[in-house]
Amino acid sequence: MPATCVVGLQWGDEAKGKIVDLLADQFDYVVRYNGGANAGHTVVVGGRAYKLSLLPTGVIRPHIVSVIGNGVVVYPPRLLEEIDALQRDGLDLSRRLLVSDHAHLIFPYHIEEDRLAENGQEGRIGTTGRGIGPCYQDKVGRRCGVRVGELFHEEHLRRRLARIVPFKNRLLAAMANGHADTLRPLDAHALVDEYLEYGRRLRPYVTDTCRHLQQALKNGKRLLFEAAQGSLLDIDHGTYPYVTSSNSLPAGIWSGAGVPSRAIDRIIGVVKAYTTRVGSGPFPTELNDGPDGYGERIRRVGREYGTVTGRPRRCGWFDAVAVRYTAALAGADEITIMLLDVLSGLPEVKICVAYELDGQRLDEFPSDTLTLERCRPVYETLPGWQESLSSIRTLRDLPANARRYVERIVELIGLPVSIISVGPDREQTIWV
Ligand code: IMP
Repeated sequence: MPATCVVGLQWGDEAKGKIVDLLADQFDYVVRYNGGANAGHTVVVGGRAYKLSLLPTGVIRPHIVSVIGNGVVVYPPRLLEEIDALQRDGLDLSRRLLVSDHAHLIFPYHIEEDRLAENGQEGRIGTTGRGIGPCYQDKVGRRCGVRVGELFHEEHLRRRLARIVPFKNRLLAAMANGHADTLRPLDAHALVDEYLEYGRRLRPYVTDTCRHLQQALKNGKRLLFEAAQGSLLDIDHGTYPYVTSSNSLPAGIWSGAGVPSRAIDRIIGVVKAYTTRVGSGPFPTELNDGPDGYGERIRRVGREYGTVTGRPRRCGWFDAVAVRYTAALAGADEITIMLLDVLSGLPEVKICVAYELDGQRLDEFPSDTLTLERCRPVYETLPGWQESLSSIRTLRDLPANARRYVERIVELIGLPVSIISVGPDREQTIWV
């Protein structure tokens, strides 16, 4: 069985992109199956950083065919911007990028809906503001969803948007709640013209990616699935409602790429050596310890600012309870531990081994967010290490305390570790 999935086991930003990039040589295809331009991957090759949002990380490797599956939501101007930027760098994507005709399109009204919903009365989710949730809402609601493949049927698209756009204008005005004068109503005709032009430019890449991938499997090609966001942001199993609107767990592959899950024989769960989260929602191990505290230090050393929005990420200790929960849901076979180097220089490091709730010890991740909000972490404290790890390449050469920290995580999660990352560059990697 030739397919592998790389999935984040925390709240996203686990540096999955680096793992995908490291493994890409062993694969023919890299496939995105969920999310959209809310994701952000930075891949560093030879000191040069590539920032990708919609394109799979594998796109940097010239032999890889990159696929944007049907489960992805596509904002065409962003996708074209990424394609253009790579082409300026000499990376030609013709015949190397496939975009599903079934993927749904993000329109400007989705982005506006996202913004207005976040500014509304209901609690803020802290979204990336990329229109992701509203686009998936329209997909599932069926009446206003538009697929990439519809860009190639001008009359149909004009009819459809002539109906959808006035409805969205009314919806947005209602959501603006007395501030409708700040909105510029969208013009259906102009929007269709704009999207037809995107369609014209994307035409060479668009295809039935499900059939293509099934055929690729039959031909013995090796597929790597790249999850966007982390498992704790999964719409079904994450910390709802503080989640994204897609299945980021590998369960999303079957629906989001049309490849049966039995084709996947290796699931790699990616974790940071600590935890971060952007946006709202419970985070039991969060460090709110002020400007001189460990939380701020981790943010500074780990450069923990959102790739997409630039927001400072919330930082905290490694949560073994949460990762055990997601590793089981993901069916992870192994873990990779990222950004271990960031913890160098701390006098001590902590791992959350259980929660405390109303005076009781809880070893399992609670199934509802309200309970999780009331959980307090139970920590195990380990001695820190002072040495820089960035030039270490073998497990044996890790300082004893860093090795002990890794071993404890492995013990608590119950899965072997296959890769430890000690820096952003490809070379800064320990292959266990
Ligand atoms: P949305 O996906 O923009 O709707 O945002 C929903 C939640 O998921 C928010 O808490 C975001 O901060 C979070 N989120 C979305 N994409 C990412 C990501 O790639 N990394 C980390 N958090 C993300």
